[in-house]
Amino acid sequence: MTQLKPILSHLDSIPSTPGKFKPEKSFSYFYRLRLHSKLTLWSFIFIVAIVFFVLISPPSPAPETTRRSLQMAGKNTGSDWENRVRASGRSKTGRVVLVTGAAGFVGAHVSAALKRRGDGVVGLDNFNKYYEIALKESRKLLLEKDGVFVVKGDINDGVLLRKLFETVSFTHVMHLAAQAGVRYAMKNPSSYIQSNIAGFVNLLEVCKSSNPQPAVIWASSSSVYGLNSKVPFSEKDRTDQPASLYAATKKAGEEIAHSYNHIYGLSLTGLRFFTVYGPWGRPDMAYFFFTKNILKGKSITIFEGVDHGTVARDFTYIDDVVKGCVAALDTAKKSTGSGGKKNGAAQFRIFNLGNTSPVPVSKLVSILEKHLKVKAKKKVVTMPRNGDVPFTHANISLASKELGYKPTTDLEAGLKKFVKWYLNYYDSKKKHASW
Ligand SMILES: NC(=O)c1ccc[n+]([C@@H]2O[C@H](COP(=O)([O-])OP(=O)(O)OC[C@H]3O[C@@H](n4cnc5c(N)ncnc54)[C@H](O)[C@@H]3O)[C@@H](O)[C@H]2O)c1
Repeated sequence: MTQLKPILSHLDSIPSTPGKFKPEKSFSYFYRLRLHSKLTLWSFIFIVAIVFFVLISPPSPAPETTRRSLQMAGKNTGSDWENRVRASGRSKTGRVVLVTGAAGFVGAHVSAALKRRGDGVVGLDNFNKYYEIALKESRKLLLEKDGVFVVKGDINDGVLLRKLFETVSFTHVMHLAAQAGVRYAMKNPSSYIQSNIAGFVNLLEVCKSSNPQPAVIWASSSSVYGLNSKVPFSEKDRTDQPASLYAATKKAGEEIAHSYNHIYGLSLTGLRFFTVYGPWGRPDMAYFFFTKNILKGKSITIFEGVDHGTVARDFTYIDDVVKGCVAALDTAKKSTGSGGKKNGAAQFRIFNLGNTSPVPVSKLVSILEKHLKVKAKKKVVTMPRNGDVPFTHANISLASKELGYKPTTDLEAGLKKFVKWYLNYYDSKKKHASW
């Protein structure tokens, strides 16, 4: 009531001449007094009614991110959760790595490799529905057997990220979470902005504010070369002609990374992967769904370039990419900043991680036919202009020189391993699942 008083007295002082009511000049004092008290009474009732409705009405829905943050914070504040994060981050080497996208194809393999050699590894993944969640869950289960805890959460969730950084002191971040795929961008463009741009910035914000700052290694993509026709693609080549929104977000990521390096002294290494394939791979990629469709007796669509030009990819086997990621992590220098302040220039690098030998997609199909022992029903069509580029070919001399990167698995050997895994995984439904 005391709070209402000033409001009521304020209402009292509002001239009482609204609407149709026209006061006569010769109002008697008594009439004015009655009118004032009537208005005061109605104002009072009106305010009491508003206060009543505010008190009984349900709280307005929180925005999606805030609600998720609160849920995550609720779920992730328990001592059990903290103990699991700490145990997962326990290191024999001094390196403690946050791997984003850990339930994904590359993230799962990199997490396992780091843990095997004794690094502390904590995974983070939002388990989105872009492809079968069961596959991500299976990778998570395997990682748990290896002692890696994969936290379910989004890189856009600042509350969760800060909680992770408070719980464990990360020396490195291996950032592999992203909305991958080229054609899906026409269906769901905002998912690319959300994960590859907004999420990346959110993660870098937390990294730059932490003390000490971690060194960040992250996945860019060969797609940044876009319509560049100079081969093989070198890190010095132009990357300003993206052919897809996916490529544009990866290119934006490279520029964003540079700005965080420049302003905050974050050590940043971008890795441009070239068509990574192998066991536990991604079901949206051609080698994977070709295998599925060949086995089901369904026809597969093979793209060719304009005028029957060859479509080729620099297919890179997962183990080679993992070695490149680990070498990038091991050669990453420390960030120079702390708590959001730069203290001198920091390392900024970009490397191609490819295989240096592009293979036509028709060859990929014939290798699959051989290993699957099934003839494919092929339909050859001209590649539509929906984001794909006709070929990719990596120049890896910089990665060889600075990371000692040397791919050793050719497509024939790599696909053999993939087919073996595929048949085992989908036949036995994870019973004998292993790396
Ligand atoms: N596989 C390739 O051939 C290839 C080629 C070039 C670049 N890349 C890049 O390498 C990285 C790993 O690719 P991949 O093939 O393992 O893909 P993937 O889709 O298997 O893995 C990405 C993981 O990130 C998770 N994720 C997505 N958005 C997230 C978010 N906002 N918060 C938390 N988790 C999120 C997904 O659930 C998924 O498990 C990606 O950055 C991708 O763009 C991959």
